[in-house]
Amino acid sequence: MEKLNLVLSKEKILQKIKELAEKIDKDFNNESLVFIGTLKGAFIFLSDLLRYIKNPNIQIDFVRVKSYGMSDTSSENVILTKDIEIPLEGKNVIIVEDIVDTGLTLKYLYEYIKKFNPKNLKICALIDKKERKKFNIPIDYVGFEIEKGFLVGYGLDFAEKYRHLPEIYEVIKDE
Ligand code: IMP
Ligand code: MG
Repeated sequence: MEKLNLVLSKEKILQKIKELAEKIDKDFNNESLVFIGTLKGAFIFLSDLLRYIKNPNIQIDFVRVKSYGMSDTSSENVILTKDIEIPLEGKNVIIVEDIVDTGLTLKYLYEYIKKFNPKNLKICALIDKKERKKFNIPIDYVGFEIEKGFLVGYGLDFAEKYRHLPEIYEVIKDE
């Protein structure tokens, strides 16, 4: 069994989410806006974030992109296993991602969504991992910058475990 070290408490996460929601509201006022959550990792982050958005003109959709197998190492290919269902042409769109590691997933999604000709395409990520970044995609709304480590909880998993935890932990593997 691996051990878990607390990295971000519930309070810290919620405080940051309120700040992100405020910034997004300020940038878009009451303009219509589509939030696209990346499954499965961003499901808790997106649902908490939305509860602090005051803009009444929002739509929500999900996309499922897989770039990781059942381990913690990034594989080079990205597959779309659930497509976006809302038309995005001419819309303001925000991709909501849980965590950015190499940036491969985001780069793929950004380019994929661009093809639908949105009016505006922004990225919001709860965690930006500095350690392994290969593809540098600018993130418009960042929650936390984390130097290193494999994180779980609050939607993030390790081989599908720990997604339900209300805080974020670093996984410490047994030697
Ligand atoms: P990237 O394509 O290398 O940027 O990886 C992004 C995806 O890998 C994220 O959307 C997560 O699903 C997963 N991932 C990357 N780092 C972690 C981590 O520390 N914990 C859990 N999942 C991670
Ligand atoms: Mg993800």
